[in-house]
Amino acid sequence: MSTTALPASPAAEAEPLAAATDQANDRRILVSWATNAGPWTAAVREGQIASRRLATDRAIIDAVVDCAPQSVLDIGCGEGWLVRALTERGIQAAGVDAIPILIEQARQAGPETYYLASYQDIAHGRFRFQADALVCNFSLFGKTSVEALFAAAAGLLPAHGRLIVQTLHPHATCSDQPYKDGWRAGSWQGFSPDFSNPPPYYFRTLSNWVDLFVGNGFEIVEIREPNDPDSNQPLAILFMATVKLQAL
Ligand SMILES: C[S@@+](CC[C@H](N)C(=O)[O-])C[C@H]1O[C@@H](n2cnc3c(N)ncnc32)[C@H](O)[C@@H]1O
Repeated sequence: MSTTALPASPAAEAEPLAAATDQANDRRILVSWATNAGPWTAAVREGQIASRRLATDRAIIDAVVDCAPQSVLDIGCGEGWLVRALTERGIQAAGVDAIPILIEQARQAGPETYYLASYQDIAHGRFRFQADALVCNFSLFGKTSVEALFAAAAGLLPAHGRLIVQTLHPHATCSDQPYKDGWRAGSWQGFSPDFSNPPPYYFRTLSNWVDLFVGNGFEIVEIREPNDPDSNQPLAILFMATVKLQAL
């Protein structure tokens, strides 16, 4: 029997290439955070980021407190400020991040529990936890890593479990570029000169974000848009979602 090798269609050729780019960019994000762990810790702890001081820190704390969870896992917790803030408010909180220096910084800052693991570890069941809410504060910038995390998240939460995400506002971040999903170059503009190698990020339109929740077993119960009180421009978008119960 003879077989004839057919030339691959352009679409078939493009797919592995796109996947390789997605994974390469997801890796570049982690390399960048490892490089910038020191300046990032200083920026957060010294209140260097205006949007955080103005609105977004308060917004994420309020969103979690309003959901009244007993326990929270902060995914992509960085140096741990939110875990400490929630603990102060009587919520049992723990954090997880893939960058050893950030986890070390978090552990040195208090007695709360921090785990070293990536979104891929969570998605593939290599990191197990019990919490009735997951919170992601400006920590979902990848493509495949984020999509894998969303695909696994509902299955890792109890019934009525919560997923709370604060991220870049698509309207405010789009700038003059086309309003479509895709990788964009990062920038440390406005940050101290100690930062280098900005991470790329995967820009998602509002409908892409909604699809991530709804397509992965969540119901969005509220969307908040923390504003700059002077300009009234949105500084972030905040999704509050709950695991959707399956009809019997
Ligand atoms: C902008 S920082 C935010 C940190 C923290 N949530 C905060 O509000 O300060 C993004 C964080 O996401 C983490 N991160 C990004 N991709 C990750 C991945 N695939 N697995 C685990 N952590 C990741 C980074 O290490 C970094 O700490």
